[in-house]
Amino acid sequence: MEKSIIITGGAGFIGSHVVREFVLKYPEYHIINLDSLTYAGNLANLKDIEHLTNYTFIKADITDAQHILEIFQQYQPDGVIHLAAESHVDRSITDPLAFVMTNVIGTVNLLNAVRIIWKDNFEGKRFHHVSTDEVYGTLGVSGLFTEETSYDPHSPYSASKASSDHFVRAYHDTYGLPVVLTNCSNNYGPNHFPEKLIPLCIHNILNNKPLPIYGDGKFTRDWLFVIDHARAIDLVFHKGKNGDSYNVGGFNEWTNIDLVKELCRQMDKKLNRSEGISAELISFVKDRPGHDLRYAIDATKINGELGYSPSVTFEEGLSKTIDWYLNNQDWLDTVTSGVYQDYYEKQYLK
Ligand code: NAD
Ligand code: TYD
Repeated sequence: MEKSIIITGGAGFIGSHVVREFVLKYPEYHIINLDSLTYAGNLANLKDIEHLTNYTFIKADITDAQHILEIFQQYQPDGVIHLAAESHVDRSITDPLAFVMTNVIGTVNLLNAVRIIWKDNFEGKRFHHVSTDEVYGTLGVSGLFTEETSYDPHSPYSASKASSDHFVRAYHDTYGLPVVLTNCSNNYGPNHFPEKLIPLCIHNILNNKPLPIYGDGKFTRDWLFVIDHARAIDLVFHKGKNGDSYNVGGFNEWTNIDLVKELCRQMDKKLNRSEGISAELISFVKDRPGHDLRYAIDATKINGELGYSPSVTFEEGLSKTIDWYLNNQDWLDTVTSGVYQDYYEKQYLK
């Protein structure tokens, strides 16, 4: 094999699309998916590629420094693409420490492991840290996040991601580690765990359950189709400038209420329901504490320097996403059984 790459969090939502992109596009690379399989990790996400000879799965927890080092010594990766994380803001509000452990300590464990195995020979090596636009905090009604925007996280999730970004840069500045970072806007698409807004609403529309909209629904997010995020990661991993960050987004802002109405409109059509029926499920609920008003990415740098652009419009991506959930209701049934019910009850019914 020409290269070996460890992708952490490869059984999760975005990670599984990144693993698929790399395994199929680069048969000459050995792709090692390292994931501890938390509630958010699901090997069913990778059923179609798990038989391929350039793919290996390893169950491991990035908070376990010794185990991580042993794996890195065994596989000697040339590259790391780091996505493993606790990723849900609402869960970070009830259990911040889990976010510190995985997102901060776990990231530092990976940085230490590559430092040890790469020694000071960084030729052909790269550590790609996958982060979020939420590190920048909130925008008012105008403006966009650029790579120069100061960090100003508000939730325990975004604070832990901001901290991990700082460690990655510190290892570049202090030890010369070859790193790149990407800070992406909200993703949507197949295999998204139904604790996040879009898949939660798809699941509830299918089951005629209320669609919980926090506060007045005027909060704005910038949405990117997950496969377009995977394409951006491929581009930055291979062509990004050492030590640089790249914001990733598609200039696609929606208020939550408008987005859910569009989702209802498309689902009424696909389910042959009369127009407006799903929107009747919309239900305004108590706001999330510390809720950021607006995120919006200025993607000029990645577009200009690396020639990036998204492959689908939001309407197309949303339509593909709904079709995937309609065709994979067994996936949805599996992930919403058991512990999901406890989470849902605590978050929405108490
Ligand atoms: P996810 O929650 O769907 O998946 C996370 C994966 O990490 C799971 O497979 C889980 O099992 C694994 N994991 C968690 N803790 C681990 C540990 N201690 N050791 C090993 N594996 C562990 O998350 P996602 O939405 O796919 O996000 C992936 C990355 O992208 C995260 O770093 C997140 O901060 C970032 N990101 C997400 C979004 C988004 O909209 N979802 C946007 C921008 C950036
Ligand atoms: P989410 O999908 O949790 O992503 P993030 O918090 O990382 O942006 O939430 C997207 C937006 O939708 C955010 O403004 C919170 C809001 N939201 C609701 O209104 N209701 C919900 O049930 C959820 C999960 C989110």
